[in-house]
Amino acid sequence: MRNTRRRTAILISGRGSNMASLIAAAKHPEYPAEIALVLSNRPEAAGLDYAREHHIATAAVDHKIYAGRENFEAVLQRMLEMHRIDLICLAGFMRLLTGSFTQRWQGRMLNIHPALLPSYKGLHTHERALADGVKIHGCTVHYVVPEMDSGPIIAQAAVPVLDTDDAGSLGVRVLEQEHIIYPRALGLVADERVKIENNRVVGACTHVEHTPLVVPGFDEEEDG
Ligand code: GRF
Repeated sequence: MRNTRRRTAILISGRGSNMASLIAAAKHPEYPAEIALVLSNRPEAAGLDYAREHHIATAAVDHKIYAGRENFEAVLQRMLEMHRIDLICLAGFMRLLTGSFTQRWQGRMLNIHPALLPSYKGLHTHERALADGVKIHGCTVHYVVPEMDSGPIIAQAAVPVLDTDDAGSLGVRVLEQEHIIYPRALGLVADERVKIENNRVVGACTHVEHTPLVVPGFDEEEDG
């Protein structure tokens, strides 16, 4: 393990449940990252209150008051430098970042996406997975590259899609897995236990939510 904890900023836009899972992990003294800043582009984001309650520095940079992405990102960058940030975790941060910002942080910026990438990039992932009838869904932590929801995959978790699922119930089970793999992925990166070879992360982690395989008509117990 490194002897200094990597100073990490979490960028949010909303409730911040993934942020909370990272904050909880970083409370462990041996966790290789410390959460040094929570920053939101929406001043009213509920996650900011949570971070403040946990005595973490917060900042709100309202994108609406800046003309253009570059100006907004210049302020983000200044905040990140002020707080001597080493790593960024995007956690429900609903702003697209420019190629130049992304490149500047390449290899040091992570994102969590509620689908098994490269399937279902973009929004409404649970609805689209259900509409396609896939039987396995999940979530992904990946390095951020200029192309949206792409970049080398650091961790994935798989969740079975049940016959009874709707987007809400499936989303809840995927979110539970997000809260497991994001702290794991940040830990791996902060501890420098992963490396990128071509487009693959070596040392990545996977998690599969366990449900027994039941094939109707074959595995059901017979009466009598
Ligand atoms: C999560 O589903 C995450 O995968 C996606 O945005 C959502 C954020 O939720 N990028 P929360 O704010 O972390 O609760």
